[in-house]
Amino acid sequence: GNISNVAGKQKVADQIAGKIKDGDVLGVGSGSTVFLTLFAIAERIKAEQLNIKAIPTSIEISLFCTKLGIPLTTLFEHKPDWCFDGADEVDPNKSLIKGRGGALFKEKLLISSSPVSYIIVDDSKIVDRLGSKFPVPVEVFPQALTHVEQELLFLGATDIQLRPAGGKDGPVITENNNLLLDVRFHEIDVDMERKIKSITGVIESGLFINYNIEVLMASNNNE
Ligand code: A5P
Repeated sequence: GNISNVAGKQKVADQIAGKIKDGDVLGVGSGSTVFLTLFAIAERIKAEQLNIKAIPTSIEISLFCTKLGIPLTTLFEHKPDWCFDGADEVDPNKSLIKGRGGALFKEKLLISSSPVSYIIVDDSKIVDRLGSKFPVPVEVFPQALTHVEQELLFLGATDIQLRPAGGKDGPVITENNNLLLDVRFHEIDVDMERKIKSITGVIESGLFINYNIEVLMASNNNE
């Protein structure tokens, strides 16, 4: 996608790259902000001959790391020392909506496995109330679609859209071979993540309520 506010995000990207220590295993989220950060990280690795491994959260990020010469590993082989990612919305409690890029399941797995998670956002991602701009992405096992839609309505969903694929006919198929629903709610309370997850057939949602994360703000001016 397009990267907005490149100068501000570049600063934070450099800040993240500055946190790397030799031997670190880095979890790498997905999205345009992550791309920018990977450039800065790859430069440091090259300049200082650092021994770093990355755990990617999408095929796109795997390809990009490989192009940049950053070796890959998996959650099977290594525990991440820390990770970084973007977000679609951040509320005053540092709860998030993620998943515009469709990688929410692996992103949540990574953030849950990581002792420290840095989330890079700019002003445009800050909201008073989760769900005020973005719908909540929900990854669904295909055969469970009808059941999940029904249960989401019981939870108060006001709009449910099957996410269409870009560039081909039909819906998005995630890297886990599932479908994505984009779901709007009147209100998202602190239990909503757990309630959505408890529906049989839901793989994950893009709600991250009260996770242990650190938000890094990219300023919107070019200073
Ligand atoms: C990917 O699935 C998302 O969770 C991204 O982290 C999120 O959409 C942020 O993307 P940008 O960095 O492109 O704004």
